[in-house]
Amino acid sequence: MRLLDIATYFTPREGSAPTVGAELDDDAVLRAYAYPEALTRPWIRVNFVSSIDGAVTADGASAGLGTPADKRVFDVLRGAADAVVVGAGTARSENYGGVRLPEWARARRVALGQQPVPPVVVVTGSASLDPRSRLFTDTDVPPTIITTTSAPADARRRLQNAGASVFALKTDAVFASGVSEILDSAGHRRILLEGGPGLFGTFLDDDAVDEVCLTTSPVVVGGSAGRISRSSTASLHAMKRAHVIADDDGTVLTRWVRTRSRDVAESSRSEK
Ligand SMILES: NC(=O)c1ccc[n+]([C@@H]2O[C@H](COP(=O)([O-])OP(=O)(O)OC[C@H]3O[C@@H](n4cnc5c(N)ncnc54)[C@H](OP(=O)(O)O)[C@@H]3O)[C@@H](O)[C@H]2O)c1
Repeated sequence: MRLLDIATYFTPREGSAPTVGAELDDDAVLRAYAYPEALTRPWIRVNFVSSIDGAVTADGASAGLGTPADKRVFDVLRGAADAVVVGAGTARSENYGGVRLPEWARARRVALGQQPVPPVVVVTGSASLDPRSRLFTDTDVPPTIITTTSAPADARRRLQNAGASVFALKTDAVFASGVSEILDSAGHRRILLEGGPGLFGTFLDDDAVDEVCLTTSPVVVGGSAGRISRSSTASLHAMKRAHVIADDDGTVLTRWVRTRSRDVAESSRSEK
């Protein structure tokens, strides 16, 4: 994997950015994807893989699009995150379990003041998740479920009894601000949103995405697969390119950060 381009406005720390053209070792990949330092609120990073023609799945799952470089960055991003957030559709269709990290990655996190393993946080309106699924049974840390008080109380109770921390917001749907507040109160600032398209759409609707990491897999799939985001209304969110990484098999990994800080956008909104 080689770094093709890096934007100097978003280097992690002076002198620590990987060199353009360099072959990237794991440490360099981690630095290329470092979260901004001294975060004062949750930073929402979204990560997806898509085909060249924009499909979010091949054979109904994202796994069909995966490449070694995508898997490597997927693991690095998980290792850097305080919490991994996912929509219930993805948790169900991809049979999500807890995040697994090797001992060295856990030790590095602990040295940095993070929990050894980030919890998986599932957003669901229905609270319809199977307590016998891997989310609850194949994990080092209990999952967090964020839903609403409209979800059946017995379904919420079942998830709690299976060990999950369950938060029920008093709103019709789960808004990004509600997710952020819950994560922030748990001390989670480095957020990794792994999809799917519905949850990404929710965060776009709420103008709550700070960064998009996108792997383009070297395949064209056609068919009827959707895109990486889906929401009822279209809205433009300008992004700046932070870097481009390429692998010999054709995989291209890009990192995009929003042009205007959300804090600036929020304060100018509140001044109106
Ligand atoms: N290529 C990739 O990188 C990638 C990544 C992730 C997923 N995928 C693929 O995407 C597909 C799943 O797509 P999807 O759009 O159904 O996934 P999703 O966004 O993970 O799940 C949608 C579900 O999440 C919950 N949800 C989302 N926003 C919500 C809100 N504002 N309030 C309450 N609940 C909310 C709802 O759950 P309830 O139904 O429980 O109410 C909703 O039905 C799968 O085929 C998966 O393989 C691909």
